[in-house]
Parts: sequence; structure tokens; C-alpha cells
Amino acid sequence: MDNRPIGVFDSGLGGLSVWRELQHGLPNESLCYFGDGKNCPYGDQSKEEVLTYVINAVDELINHDIKMLVIACNAATAYTIDVLREKYSIPIVGMEPAIKPAVLESKSKIVGIVATAATLNGQLFHNTYKKYSNQATILSSVGRGFVELVEGDMEDTPIAQSRVEAVILPLINAGVDKIVLGCTHYPFLVNTINKVIANRDIQIIDSASAVKSRVKFILKQGDIFADKDNVANYEFLTAHNNEYLLKLKNKASSAKI
Ligand code: DGL
Repeated sequence: MDNRPIGVFDSGLGGLSVWRELQHGLPNESLCYFGDGKNCPYGDQSKEEVLTYVINAVDELINHDIKMLVIACNAATAYTIDVLREKYSIPIVGMEPAIKPAVLESKSKIVGIVATAATLNGQLFHNTYKKYSNQATILSSVGRGFVELVEGDMEDTPIAQSRVEAVILPLINAGVDKIVLGCTHYPFLVNTINKVIANRDIQIIDSASAVKSRVKFILKQGDIFADKDNVANYEFLTAHNNEYLLKLKNKASSAKI
């Protein structure tokens, strides 16, 4: 048994889509969420820059005595997971776009993935693409400006609608029946994406639930679940300012599954 918190990291607010899944699925686990905010978005920055931000954040999470770490950011996972696993001895779970279930369950055998440039250019995605591209056509698109919509609280606005249309409509027109969200910010745009999909038979898939299962597996394997009567504590940290910290807390309290 281990009542110490699980650390959850993202470049900003997006990782709260994973945080809410953990909160919901592991109600006794305390969570310590670090949303960078100051250096967000990461998607178009260099590997070296992102690595510096992530190490600073993880050092702070380690100071908060976390028992394991979830990198709830696809871009940070793509750029830093190997270095982090080498540097820190606690268990670390990263994000991986849900290409596998999308390809296996697709009927049209055309699937779309929307992510940041960092994720789509990363080795992890290339390996997954290589593995599954003989079973389905995998179309990838950068969600241009999507992270900014979520960070700016503009998910349900006309500008969100037009940005989402610009990315999602070409995928729809190409015949996809699954759209994989390869960035943890994007689930917050699901209402707008669904509006664009309208009544077409297209499923949106993200990785939050798979990450929760992986976290459960690691807690079980290491015998580090919190006590059944542990009252979970939710703490929030940022590299940005107090205003952003408040924004994180507000988003977390309104982030329902
Ligand atoms: N939530 C991050 C991800 O999953 C966004 C990356 C960014 O800051 O551009 O990739």
C-alpha cells in the first residue's frame, strides 16, 4: 500500500482529460497535476527545449513525493520518455495514440489521426504507423491551433468550429470511420468535432482510458495502490502564474467524463 500521490504532467490544461479519467477510475488515489502553461504549446518546439521544461516539472513533482508519473502529453512523451525512464527510478507511463484499436476496429480500413507536429514526427508514431499501415490507410493531420483553443477557453466558439472543420473535414471526405485524438488537449474539443462529424458513422478514439488501465496495472504489479479508505487529495502545480493555477483548478473541477 502506498498513499503517496500519482504525478500527472502536461504542457498545460490538456492532461486534465487523462487526470479526470484517473480521478474517476481510481477514486482513492491522490493526484498531483503539473500543467506547465508557461511554455505551452510544445508541439512546434525543439526536442531540447521540451526536455528542459519536462525535467524541471518532473523534478518538482518528485519533490512532492510522487510514487509514479504519468506523462499525460503525447508531444512530451514522444520527445522525452526514454530520457525520463533513464533518469528517474519511479514507474513512468506515457501517452501513445490509439492507432492499434482504431485500425483493428475500422470497417472502412481508413483511419485518421490528429495530433501535434511533435507527436507525428516522433519515433513512437513512426513505429506504430509502420506496424499498422499494412492493415489500413492511416491519414495523419496536425490539429493546427487546437491546443491554443483549449488553453484559451475557446472550445465552443465559431473560431473553434472553423479550425476543427479545416482539419476534420478532409479526413471525413477521405472516408475515415475512426478519428484518433493523439493529443490530450483534443478531447476537450469533442463537442465541436462531433458537430463537424454530424450524423456520419465515425468514432472518435482517445487514449485516456488505456492510460488508466496501464496505471492500474502498474499499481497492482508494484503493490502500491492507496488504501481503500484513503481520501484522495488533488494538488495542482504550474510553471506559469497564479492566474493559470486558478484556471487549471477550474478546468479540473468542470472536467467531467
Ligand atoms: N497535450 C499535449 C499533447 O498531448 C499538447 C502538446 C502541446 O503543448 O503542443 O501532445
